[in-house]
Amino acid sequence: MMDIQYNRTIKTLERLRAESTAAGGPEKISRQHSQGKLTARERIDLLLDEGSFEEFDVLKTGRGSSLGDDRLYLGDGVITGHGNIDGREVFVFSQDFTVIGGSLGEAHSQKICKVMDMAVKVGAPIIGLNDSGGARIQEGVDALAAYGEIFHRNVRASGVVPQISCIMGPCAGGAVYSPSITDFVFMVQESSCMFVTGPNVVKTVTHQDITAEALGGAGIHARKSGVAHFTAPNDILCLREIRRLISYLPSNNRQGPPILDLRDPADRIDPALDYLVPDNPSQAYDMNVLIHSILDGAEFMEVHPDFARNIICGFGRMGGQSVGLVANQPAVLAGVLDTEASFKAGRFVRFCDAFNIPLIALVDVPGFMPGPDQEHGGIIRHGAKLLYAFTEATVPRISVIVRKAYGGAYLVMNSKHIHCDVNYAWPTAEIAVMGPKGATEVIHRKEIQAASDPKAVLNEKMDEYRRTFANPFLAAQRGYIDDVIFPRDTRHRLIRTLQVLDGKTADRPDRKHGNIPL
Ligand code: HXC
Repeated sequence: MMDIQYNRTIKTLERLRAESTAAGGPEKISRQHSQGKLTARERIDLLLDEGSFEEFDVLKTGRGSSLGDDRLYLGDGVITGHGNIDGREVFVFSQDFTVIGGSLGEAHSQKICKVMDMAVKVGAPIIGLNDSGGARIQEGVDALAAYGEIFHRNVRASGVVPQISCIMGPCAGGAVYSPSITDFVFMVQESSCMFVTGPNVVKTVTHQDITAEALGGAGIHARKSGVAHFTAPNDILCLREIRRLISYLPSNNRQGPPILDLRDPADRIDPALDYLVPDNPSQAYDMNVLIHSILDGAEFMEVHPDFARNIICGFGRMGGQSVGLVANQPAVLAGVLDTEASFKAGRFVRFCDAFNIPLIALVDVPGFMPGPDQEHGGIIRHGAKLLYAFTEATVPRISVIVRKAYGGAYLVMNSKHIHCDVNYAWPTAEIAVMGPKGATEVIHRKEIQAASDPKAVLNEKMDEYRRTFANPFLAAQRGYIDDVIFPRDTRHRLIRTLQVLDGKTADRPDRKHGNIPL
């Protein structure tokens, strides 16, 4: 008798689990596949180390709706739990579009909140795979309340554990605000979109015809709005990139960054770097050459690669340790700082600082972008974000001035004066209040205008200015530069400096929080 009872109970559990796993059924699953999308479970399997997923709330359901739609689904349209990435614990939720369009109601949200709370409690990253029609309409205000609970936790977890969002289907309305609070947003090309109001509302309000892809597809958010930090052509590659990102990050703000030895000698020198900077100061070169040369194994994970390309941000390793790189890119807009570059780099710097990842700035910046577009677009307050972010950062901070470092942009780009720990310059560095041409035209204007050959006088005065100011030696005499280094030695010098700064401690003012110019 006992055995029969036992058997029945086990069978019931098996049946319930199978029902939960079956999700919205074969028809909906094949529709999902026909759109080039994986199912919520397939995504989890690819994201996590094989066999490591432990699921919570398999049997949880909603309460039913007040609209006469009483379908209850085990799991309520989201799969939640924890598992490993390269052996390290992460928490995950994966919305199941095959169940009521992955829409979010009370129970669905409670499941997400449970794993978010656990992630914070144990100090592990939280990864959300989003594929949802948004607030579950049948649940009315309960669905809105449910979003609020998630937003609240996103903010509480910010700077405590890394939060990563991956958009793998629709993400519309207020639902977009959870991913946008998180640290990094991935989007899958063609199958994902994000917007506050969709094409239909746009048509009604503004009479514009626009497709979902043109309004809020991966490409637009990666290039134009800056909402997406990474994109990938399909689900499989996207999930692989999330695993790669995790490899650079500590699990929480109490840990140092993970160490991974790529067996690249710390004392490797690169003589080609001595020839990287062209003789002509107006000529561009690609900062990626320097970045790849100094990093372990030339491996670099660029953040926001298609947005504000005049500045490069991303993760690499030096001597095995994760570092955050911020580098001006002379090959795009001469490496100038504009509104978008300041926002992009400011947020990246703050992430690295929150999670104990040392920061290295590679500087070649002619200044801030001039013009009414930039001034009216708020270059003052956006530029202030980057200034604030670098100044506030207490992680080890190092700078290498490669070529131009002019005016306010010099100060902002992790200069000694905003308390960077160690500042190096290449012999090609030009550290001055402004570029030779602009400076000469200001201080010798009358002389140039009165000359019989103004161009010759301008050139002569510019040469004089360059010799006096546009070099690193005056700054080195003052101690604003700790050493003028041979370009070929950059990797070695940086790794030694990271080692020495490893034990850095920093005081912080006693306050609730600062007021960064958002
Ligand atoms: C309840 C929903 C739903 C929702 C989709 N479904 N979205 N059910 N609430 N929000 C259901 C559909 O009824 C359908 O159920 C199933 O999911 C699949 O949807 P389809 O429309 O057949 O899929 P598709 O053609 O691929 O279109 C997907 C879609 C569309 C573009 C997402 O469903 C859509 O426009 N949904 C509404 C989106 C929306 O406006 N959401 C509210 C946003 S406002 P059956 O039973 O037929 O399979 C919001 C506020 C958040 O979210 C506020 C936070 C503060």
